[in-house]
Amino acid sequence: MPTTTGMKGGGYYDANSQVQRLTSEALLPWMEEAIDGLPKPAPDQRSWNFLDIGTSEGANSIYTMNHLIEILRRKSDLPVWALFDDLPTNDFNQMFLNLFPTSNSALSGSDVYSAAIGGSAFGRLVPPETLHLATTYNAIGFFESKPSAPLPHFVIPMIPNPDAPRKGVHVSASELIPFQKQSYQDLCQFYTARAQELVPGGKLLIQVYGKTESQCTGHGIMDVLSDAFLDFVEADMLPRSFYENFVFPAYYRDLDELTAPLRNEPELSTSYRIEHTQVYDTRAHFDNEFARTGDRKIWAQSYTSFLRAFTEPVLADSLPDALVKDQIVDKIYQRIEQLLAENPERYEFHFISIAALLTRL
Ligand SMILES: C[S@@+](CC[C@H](N)C(=O)[O-])C[C@H]1O[C@@H](n2cnc3c(N)ncnc32)[C@H](O)[C@@H]1O
Repeated sequence: MPTTTGMKGGGYYDANSQVQRLTSEALLPWMEEAIDGLPKPAPDQRSWNFLDIGTSEGANSIYTMNHLIEILRRKSDLPVWALFDDLPTNDFNQMFLNLFPTSNSALSGSDVYSAAIGGSAFGRLVPPETLHLATTYNAIGFFESKPSAPLPHFVIPMIPNPDAPRKGVHVSASELIPFQKQSYQDLCQFYTARAQELVPGGKLLIQVYGKTESQCTGHGIMDVLSDAFLDFVEADMLPRSFYENFVFPAYYRDLDELTAPLRNEPELSTSYRIEHTQVYDTRAHFDNEFARTGDRKIWAQSYTSFLRAFTEPVLADSLPDALVKDQIVDKIYQRIEQLLAENPERYEFHFISIAALLTRL
């Protein structure tokens, strides 16, 4: 059972994911290097096959796919398959609208063909040895399946932000262990599936939200989600059991965790060469605007929309049936917006990416 039905659809994710686009754009030099380093096409090769995994509604994914095709076209005229994967419950209608905003494809260049795939990143998505390049941005931090370990005193498996303390909010290192194990297993499955799908010499470019020793992408966003829930619990608008049972089904890895399966698993260590790894902090558009205008209301609105785009489907799915979900969901995001506007310092946000460029051996 996947952990999310996808992002908030109908164009909402696309409209509120500018910072995610910047995180993938930062990897443009690696995209150039990956395409430059692709093996020479075999005499019987009929196409280049590129797959992006976890595309959501697609605007960001199509944007980076266009970069890749543009770079590829400098060296080869072979037809291109541009493949886009997400969970079957993703808003693929919006994906196709984005791919064909008019009768012409949004993918630039001639001889470029597109297709969407519904399936999990942690399983096989295409036949063996058919991919030349696989990419994934901001997706594989979601768990493959709903974690079953308890986490009664916070909303996501991470050590809560020391800069946003709240009475009763805590996670111990030992509570995290089952989630860390699950995240490691998920990664092993992801790398194994891609190793089967990539041709020898094929490239795998991975980027996902993560953490450093002192900063985590979850800081700010998960603090304000937790604070809003607890305010509602204290006001008897949500049962405490909801807070105790809720686990946002994602895990923020550090770079060492991203590469651990490639060092520890003999099958995987002989399947890939690590070309590069990187950790970087991307400044969100709403923070740039805030620095320019000082308008905390506008800042709180765009921060909330960004957060809502990837949390609402999980939240709506977790709320007790007895509550009028639409109304409580709106109220929770209204509370989040209010908390943000009242206390921007408490919810400072840093988008920490961890990334790796690998070659299939
Ligand atoms: C935050 S969005 C990222 C979208 C886009 N790549 C970007 O960077 O803007 C994460 C996407 O990962 C998808 N996702 C989550 N778990 C997945 C899985 N097991 N397999 C494939 N996609 C998954 C979600 O449905 C969602 O569309």
